[in-house]
Amino acid sequence: MTSPFSLFSYNLQFMHEAEDAKVFKATDMTGKQFVVKFTLVYGNYDPAAHEVYSELMTINHPNLVKVFEVGIIMPQHPEYKQLYNMMNWDYDNGSVAEVSLPTNTAIPYVLMEYIDGVSVDNKSEIEPISLCQDMLAAIKVLQNHSIVHDDVQTQNILFDPTNNRYVLIDFDLSYHDADGEDTHRDVDLFMEVLLHVLRVNQPVTNSLLPNTTAINKFYNATVTMISPDLGVDDYTTLLSQLLGGDYVLTLPLEHGVTEVWQHGVRIQ
Ligand SMILES: Nc1ncnc2c1ncn2[C@@H]1O[C@H](COP(=O)(O)OP(=O)(O)O)[C@@H](O)[C@H]1O
Ligand SMILES: [Mg+2]
Repeated sequence: MTSPFSLFSYNLQFMHEAEDAKVFKATDMTGKQFVVKFTLVYGNYDPAAHEVYSELMTINHPNLVKVFEVGIIMPQHPEYKQLYNMMNWDYDNGSVAEVSLPTNTAIPYVLMEYIDGVSVDNKSEIEPISLCQDMLAAIKVLQNHSIVHDDVQTQNILFDPTNNRYVLIDFDLSYHDADGEDTHRDVDLFMEVLLHVLRVNQPVTNSLLPNTTAINKFYNATVTMISPDLGVDDYTTLLSQLLGGDYVLTLPLEHGVTEVWQHGVRIQ
């Protein structure tokens, strides 16, 4: 299999290293920035995530990372050797990593849009309504395509301040849910993200966490609302119920207008 990907077409800048993947910022000749993620494959390659990444090439949604190219770099690829060496490099201490790739291992890659932002686990202020709106919209689109992301967590949601949006990334654990049995998995995971965000960022935590009835109510309503149109007002009301009366929700709108809601009522 020949791949159109060429390491030499991009200037690669190391961004992130995980146990089984390396992420680079890739700048092309024209200066346009992308992200390329190479996955280390130690055993047989599971094509489920690869298929989902391929499908993402056809999906254009502001809350889902855009994918431009998906491929597998085979040992026959002219740049395999360079890439192989790159993948073995331990960037933390500048020496070659102890664990090395078995030879003749295919290396899948994904070329995607670069999101100039910060992940939700590193962001100091998070607006819960925007987060809910964006992520529930993203999950809804995935459900329409029978895709389960299965790794919805704070590290995999980036906030893009330029476009004021949250974007879901990292589809490495994703798969097609052919029989529709796993429909609620992503919503379930997102609720954990939301609770985490509320715990960490909530200015008035005292009354929040003991209020499990409100949390359950919000959760159930969210799950019910995932198929019909998602209304901002509905979320505002639900979040106000969840957070109790002390919480002031600021809701950034499209044209720089900010709404302020308190006790479920718009006060500004
Ligand atoms: N498209 C992207 N734009 C900007 N940063 C990204 C992008 N994709 C990944 N990253 C950064 O790299 C990190 C790791 O990427 P991710 O796909 O989540 O890999 P892992 O499988 O190691 O979790 C992310 O948490 C994020 O900080
Ligand atoms: Mg990740």
